[in-house]
Amino acid sequence: MPLSHNVQRVQPSVTMQISAKAAQMKRDGIDVIALSAGEPDFDTPQNIKDAGIRAIEEGFTKYTTPGSGIIELKEAICRKFDRDNGLVYNTDEVIVNSGAKHSLFLAVAALINPGDEVIIPTPYWVTYIEQPRLVGGEPVIVETRVENGLKLTPDEFRQAITPRTRMLFLCSPSNPSGSVYAREELESLAAVAVEHGIYVLSDEIYEKLVYDGVEHHSIAACSPEAKALSIVVNGVSKAYSMTGWRIGYTGASEEIIAGMNKVQSQEISHPSSISQKAAVEALEGPQESVEVMRQAFDERRRYMVERLNAIEGIECTLPKGAFYAYPDVTAYYGRRAGDRVLADSVALCEYLLTEGKVACVPGAGFGTHQHMRISYATSMELIEAAMDRVEAALGALK
Ligand SMILES: Cc1ncc(COP(=O)(O)O)c(C=O)c1O
Repeated sequence: MPLSHNVQRVQPSVTMQISAKAAQMKRDGIDVIALSAGEPDFDTPQNIKDAGIRAIEEGFTKYTTPGSGIIELKEAICRKFDRDNGLVYNTDEVIVNSGAKHSLFLAVAALINPGDEVIIPTPYWVTYIEQPRLVGGEPVIVETRVENGLKLTPDEFRQAITPRTRMLFLCSPSNPSGSVYAREELESLAAVAVEHGIYVLSDEIYEKLVYDGVEHHSIAACSPEAKALSIVVNGVSKAYSMTGWRIGYTGASEEIIAGMNKVQSQEISHPSSISQKAAVEALEGPQESVEVMRQAFDERRRYMVERLNAIEGIECTLPKGAFYAYPDVTAYYGRRAGDRVLADSVALCEYLLTEGKVACVPGAGFGTHQHMRISYATSMELIEAAMDRVEAALGALK
């Protein structure tokens, strides 16, 4: 086998596999509704696009310095952390990366040694368990409980700690469950991290998408000690519908940021100059479009969850953040489609795709086998049609 051991340990993304299959079915002329991807359906706001166009027209199309991000954007990021999260970083404590996924990887690459353990609570975003493997680290999966809103408790965190534990991955608001950690919950997790000197990689990419008056908090803001151990990852992809621009950013101690920059500089030099200019406009320009999108997601969220709960056997809690419903679908495991028995979330999603023509992602990919993930980041019209199809397909099972 010519590939490295680390690469051999990495699994391809389930989400991308399903999306690719749905895309292939579409190319074959099949009318599939894809609710599998994690991408807002809105266009990038015009003022942000204009900033990108201006950057091109003004010739801002060359290598940029410093490689850790143009000063204008780093200053905008510092202001954003201060304004939204109560976190004071200087420009040496932030770095601009090519998407939040890249930020997460650089943090892992900068801090994880072979054999180090990384605690990852379920349900986890698929990428979390693969990135530590790429550098020889060991993902340690910790099951959370439905009674606790699928959130990690301090006891569960503490029990998973060994002498080799180096980092905790935390995602709030969560992809896939939509759970949002309250400030007190973060404070008690931060206390455990500080007691044991464990880094917390806090993925806050869905920060702007919270509902029902729930507030987003960053674990880094819990105490100065927690801030010193936190690597706060955020980006413009979800809040500003800029997935293709590939801009993520990180706030952490100067030492960690310097480590991440070392890797970034040898890997990609720096993120796109044009996208960096657009990201300045996203963070500093008018913010109305964020609220318009959030309200649309909110309406779709309530509709989708209501429709799901109206289907016999399905249980879906109303997610407080992000743009996914994460229903418990175990009532359908063991049911038959012709002579096929649908044993688990993978078989059920396969059935919904081939027979119902709706692409959802099996919970197995996120480490909780009883669920499936359905994105509501698509038009109300498509969501209505998709819910009709899911209801009919599930109703046809024996
Ligand atoms: C939890 C989470 N973190 C990070 C990302 C990646 O964001 P970006 O597109 O900025 O790399 C995603 C995208 O799906 C996500 O769901």
